[in-house]
Amino acid sequence: MEKKYKLGILVSGRGSNLQAIIDAIQKGEVNAEIAVIISNKKKALALEKGDRYGIPALFLDPKLYGSKKDYDLALVEKLQSYAPDLICLAGYMRILRTEFIQAFAGRIINIHPSLLPSFPGLHAQKQALDHGVKIAGCTVHLVEEEVDAGPIILQAAVPVLNEDNEDSLSARILQQEHIIYPQAIQMFIEGRVGNSMKAKTVETQ
Ligand code: GAR
Repeated sequence: MEKKYKLGILVSGRGSNLQAIIDAIQKGEVNAEIAVIISNKKKALALEKGDRYGIPALFLDPKLYGSKKDYDLALVEKLQSYAPDLICLAGYMRILRTEFIQAFAGRIINIHPSLLPSFPGLHAQKQALDHGVKIAGCTVHLVEEEVDAGPIILQAAVPVLNEDNEDSLSARILQQEHIIYPQAIQMFIEGRVGNSMKAKTVETQ
């Protein structure tokens, strides 16, 4: 039987992108299995999906480690014990240190709710509204050491409406996140993600 790609998923919160990945795997759109879900937040709703779908789901407590470096080294060790082929950041809201990025070099991807390189960091959707942009969106990219930066795999664009607030714009963008994240993972699995890759834009209605 064909070997399934193993995904290690890092989360901090609600887990809707994790759910989209689980759904895409179940529909056969992503040829992978989730080896482990790890959260840096004890109360992350995303962790509950472990029980529901029979996936190992762990809380790794930052308070147990003396430094950010020690935490990331522990995270590397924990992930490696599940032998993931690809690490997916799905709403993981901690900055990853060099040691982590080097341990999984070229095999970490992230989703961010803006059309990068615009609006990296926190509250990307509010940044977009404050800037008055007319088009917003989301990006899946390979992770490099800079925050929310690295070669772009897929992007999706949505309109910003006059009556939008942070919640309504975030919801419109999130719908697209749930489409492009599984697609980007499948592209990675098929070897269609690499250094020479050019950004691809998904057209939206
Ligand atoms: C998503 O909007 C994701 O793009 C964002 O956090 C949210 C997580 O939602 N990530 C970042 O801002 C990373 N810089 P989810 O837990 O429901 O998937």
